[in-house]
Amino acid sequence: MAKYPISHNGKKKLGEFFRDILSFHIPASKEKILLDPTCGRRYLWEEYTKPDLSGNTRLEEYGKVIFSDVKDYGQEIVSDVRSLKFNQQFDGIIYDPPYFFGYSGSDDPRREDYGDYVQTYDDLLEFMEIANERFPSWLKDHGKLIVKCADQYHTKERRFYPHHYTWIDKLTNFELIDMFIFIHHRMSPTAFQVKDRPCSVIMHTYFLVFKKAKNMIRNF
Ligand SMILES: C[S@@+](CC[C@H](N)C(=O)[O-])C[C@H]1O[C@@H](n2cnc3c(N)ncnc32)[C@H](O)[C@@H]1O
Repeated sequence: MAKYPISHNGKKKLGEFFRDILSFHIPASKEKILLDPTCGRRYLWEEYTKPDLSGNTRLEEYGKVIFSDVKDYGQEIVSDVRSLKFNQQFDGIIYDPPYFFGYSGSDDPRREDYGDYVQTYDDLLEFMEIANERFPSWLKDHGKLIVKCADQYHTKERRFYPHHYTWIDKLTNFELIDMFIFIHHRMSPTAFQVKDRPCSVIMHTYFLVFKKAKNMIRNF
């Protein structure tokens, strides 16, 4: 693996790219505890969960990774992120909540995996507020937050929403320290059916890396 990750995935698969990002920003150590409160089927963690010949996985390179999701995918905690409570702090939080709003409003081929996007724009903003308000207290001072998010072309509204920009804007208790672009390997077959398309077909996803803003350090 390269010493430094490159800001786009090139030909790497999602799991490989995520591993580059995570291992660079939060190098593996038995001392470190991570939280993924919207873990889903853990596609991101593919490189960490596949066993080697001795049956060990790379997840074991960290002290612990706590997986939680509102749906039961067989992970350790089944909970709405809003109801989670911890009496410990983490070295890193990986946050990948539903990234669009308005059903059938996206070009994203991966919506098959997690259902259609029935949440409202306010619901999407609430996921940002949760991160901004609650995550600083869940993170150690040196801790990092990795947000996975995407922009959206809303077909019905015929409007482009630069959600990644909104994320950066709303996370006022954090400072953006890095940004990566994952270029999708496949495209929605319906994306080109939009008549007089007012913006390009969105073919990428972001990984935004934050640290706590200075005024948040040791406030908890
Ligand atoms: C984009 S998917 C996450 C994909 C995941 N990172 C992976 O690697 O497979 C979004 C996840 O957020 C979960 N989710 C939605 N609302 C939630 C909530 N209020 N609290 C916790 N998880 C939630 C969904 O069940 C879904 O698994």
